Amino acid sequence: MTPDLSESWSIRGVEIPSRLVLAPMAGVSVQAFRRQGRRYGAGLVCSEMVSVAGIQHRNERTLGYLRVASDEHPLAIQIFGSDPAAMAEAARMVEAAGADLVDINFGCPVKKVTKTGAGATLLDDPERACGVVSAVAEAVSVPVTVKMRRGLENGSRACLALGPRLVDAGASSLTLHPRSARQMYTGEADHSLTGELAAQVDVPVVASGDVTSRARAQAILATTGAAAVMVGRAAQGNPWALREILDGDATEPSREEVVAELLLFMRETVRELGERRSTGFLKKFYGWYLGRGRFPRPFKQELVQLETLDEVEQRLLAAAPGAAEVLERLTAELPDAEDDVVLDLPISIYGGG
Ligand SMILES: Cc1cc2nc3c(=O)[nH]c(=O)nc-3n(C[C@H](O)[C@H](O)[C@H](O)COP(=O)(O)O)c2cc1C
Repeated sequence: MTPDLSESWSIRGVEIPSRLVLAPMAGVSVQAFRRQGRRYGAGLVCSEMVSVAGIQHRNERTLGYLRVASDEHPLAIQIFGSDPAAMAEAARMVEAAGADLVDINFGCPVKKVTKTGAGATLLDDPERACGVVSAVAEAVSVPVTVKMRRGLENGSRACLALGPRLVDAGASSLTLHPRSARQMYTGEADHSLTGELAAQVDVPVVASGDVTSRARAQAILATTGAAAVMVGRAAQGNPWALREILDGDATEPSREEVVAELLLFMRETVRELGERRSTGFLKKFYGWYLGRGRFPRPFKQELVQLETLDEVEQRLLAAAPGAAEVLERLTAELPDAEDDVVLDLPISIYGGG
């Protein structure tokens, strides 16, 4: 039977309206990305990882502070660190800010993170990993979830031994990105491991890695027994991929739609990170939105060279004047920004998972 992606499912009582989850991505999963993901059908969105070390030291170089809006729920906030007590404290803050789920990162392969004993390193330290999960699960009343890779080394099956132990320690769902930390993003995600993991645990498993189309999503759900698929890179500057995966609607967006979504993304990001940080941060998004044959390549180059976001906005509107009206409609549908919760937890500058 073909699994129905638009069916709801739940993680220990938290209802998730579709089987499509938007991936946490450092440097990408800002509030604008998460809200857009929800609008295009993601049943669950996740913040990028927030640093628990930031609570203790406050001297980390950070991008900004996390904002949570009322239209993001259900929302998972991801934390990373290796000290159970600090993780428990962060989890309490995250719960207080309104997270519906607290997600723990055991997948980040980036050296800056792994050398502190956090992220994927914990796949090799089951005792500590379980200690972190049980400390966090005891600290909060919302469900605790874990996102992990297959293991540190290529071919590793560490996730299969660790998964059931994490569930015993209190994890209510596991997300697997079945690449090794060493692989980073090379090769392919081996979802046969996702199937093996799903068969071993009695909590929902989410499949992450290389989900780029409806056909792929359905095949993964049908062959692995996963409860949901997670979409990351395919949704960068491309919320229309979520729509295609969810209901098969592969209509190419008009230029007006593309520009309106990009402009809304820019405005919301300025609100979250401030104008100065957003100027550089947003540059990679221009290519992601305007590429895929939607606009000629020199147009993107031109935007990247402009000095202020105001100029970028003017140039975009000149290229697609009808976007102003679409943008107005999108903006009118957003809830009041004053109701946002701003979390005193830094968004990390280093990413990966
Ligand atoms: C730029 C980037 C940043 C990422 N940051 C995180 C992160 O903060 N936490 C995490 O658990 N995974 C992170 N990931 C991993 C993704 O969540 C996802 O598991 C991975 O990209 C595979 O899915 P995809 O093929 O759909 O992109 C990141 C991936 C990318 C490309």
